[in-house]
Amino acid sequence: PSRPVMSGGGGNSLSAAASAGRCSHASAYVRSRASRAQRSRRSGQQAGAGESLLGRLWWGPEATKEDRDAAIEPSETVGPEPLRRSLLTERGLFLSLVAFRCANALLLHTHFVPDEFWQSVEVAHRSAFGYGHLTWEWQAGLRSPLYPGAFALLFKLLQLAGADSRLAVAKLPRLLQACLAAVADFYLYRFSRRVAGQRAAQWALICQLLNWFTLYTAPRTLSNCVEWLLTTVGLYYYPWPEAQSRKAQWKFALAVAAACALRPTSAVPWLMLCLWHAARSRRRLGRLLALYGATGLLVLAVSGLADKHYYGRWTLSQLNFLHYNLLSDIGSFYGVHPWHWYITQGIPAILGPHLPLYLYASYQSWRQRRRVETALTLLVIWTLYVYSFLAHKEFRFVFPLLPLMMHQCGLCLSELGPALRKAAVACLCCLGIPAALYFCLIHQRGPLDAVNHLGKDAELRLTRTGVPAHLDPDLHFLFLAPCHSTPLYSHLHSNVSTRTLDCSPNWRDQPGYVEEQEAFYSDPAGFASRLLDTERRPSHILLFDSLLPRLRGLLETRGFTLRKKFFNSHFEDGRRSHYLLLFCRSDWV
Ligand SMILES: *[C@@H]1O[C@H](CO)[C@@H](O)[C@H](O)[C@H]1NC(C)=O
Repeated sequence: PSRPVMSGGGGNSLSAAASAGRCSHASAYVRSRASRAQRSRRSGQQAGAGESLLGRLWWGPEATKEDRDAAIEPSETVGPEPLRRSLLTERGLFLSLVAFRCANALLLHTHFVPDEFWQSVEVAHRSAFGYGHLTWEWQAGLRSPLYPGAFALLFKLLQLAGADSRLAVAKLPRLLQACLAAVADFYLYRFSRRVAGQRAAQWALICQLLNWFTLYTAPRTLSNCVEWLLTTVGLYYYPWPEAQSRKAQWKFALAVAAACALRPTSAVPWLMLCLWHAARSRRRLGRLLALYGATGLLVLAVSGLADKHYYGRWTLSQLNFLHYNLLSDIGSFYGVHPWHWYITQGIPAILGPHLPLYLYASYQSWRQRRRVETALTLLVIWTLYVYSFLAHKEFRFVFPLLPLMMHQCGLCLSELGPALRKAAVACLCCLGIPAALYFCLIHQRGPLDAVNHLGKDAELRLTRTGVPAHLDPDLHFLFLAPCHSTPLYSHLHSNVSTRTLDCSPNWRDQPGYVEEQEAFYSDPAGFASRLLDTERRPSHILLFDSLLPRLRGLLETRGFTLRKKFFNSHFEDGRRSHYLLLFCRSDWV
């Protein structure tokens, strides 16, 4: 009985909006909106160059009028009125996404992987404030300084504004990353709309916003998250057979080149799409190769100059990365997984409740011979196939594949019957949101809480004694925990003297090399007692509670008492156990 509310772009109205009363209300609303939009467009034409320049900066030069006006249709949206109104324009949609991801970032209180601090904000902290720890990758020149450079710039601005408080330094990088995540969401929506229409785009966006792993990972300061963003942007600009646009090609090439410069492994998925593109444009192959070549060289030049500036010598971080990871196989130092890990654990875990929907969607797109979606399925299979050969596997390495899967889930959802769709979305909400909250708020929150506490102690000490932290003879933090289990100066934001266990692989090929962390774990009490005898006396010692039975006696005889216990996790993950314990010198005030 429900009548489509709006002509054009048309889909059936959503079941939620199907009741007649709300329908007529919505159509009146649409009419008033449309006439207002027309009026404002007319006045916009008279408004002069300033407005259009701003508009261009905001939307990018390629945004057409339809792009600006046709965001989510009201007949397609559910939810409270203010939210629906904000989704009527692309700008409103983008700002809503920024607000959503910022809230997402502020809800994030947990630790995922060491790289989110040690390969980004810690390095940036050192560049901006002059102190911070560099891991071996930064000594060997494996990483491109471009990504931490963004945070270094942010820190420098904070410092110039005199606003570099501990809280700001710890939180703002995640908020910056949240804005990038909003751009990624927005481009997923645009990509989906371009290849499958408005309705599919809207559901793809909803799938992405409900995916627990995206909520857990997107605002983190990981280079994988930028790779994820660039993948989505690249997909939008990719010359799909249905919707080719010559102008977008160099943007596509730029996104791909930037993704590969940032993480050379992204070349794997793009290789397939680029070959497909080349196969389709055989007559213009020369021009295409010139375009790819020129963009690649440009990005390589920028990245090379950044490497030269940061490392002070001519080096190419991407080459070093490949050298150490593929040839020396240093990746397997960080753990070896069975070949089927991505299929049996990686992908099912990051998809979570979206998994059945995704499998059904892939089957459907193959059965209905949809070219774009079948290509996306093949892309996922190809990437997983190649990544499965690498010994070291992680969830975040396949994070850039998630948006493609979300697009397919969205398309599938948009084609389901209203009742089935409602049930599917309810299922995604009921399983996805609690999982996201648990992982964002509870699981592995110990490291951040503990370092936050240490930072507070250092601040208190400074106000009490007035002596700068690095000149204070009594202030020294010792971490008897697996290396990089907690963030360091990026969250302490105080030049305290610290001591952590080293766990670099033997990248300098020293004979008879014993990793310090292994030496510690083979004899914790002996190692700790030697350390306390020969090195500076710590004021604070941080350790996981699994070591307590073996270290309690030693710590008590050396005059340390348990000061605080931080909850970490319900699951014991190797050496990282349920609680983090903070011991302080008994005479510490
Ligand atoms: C930080 O402390 C170290 C010594 O612990 C000192 O050499 C260095 O100059 C300090 N840096 C800053 C910026 O205070």
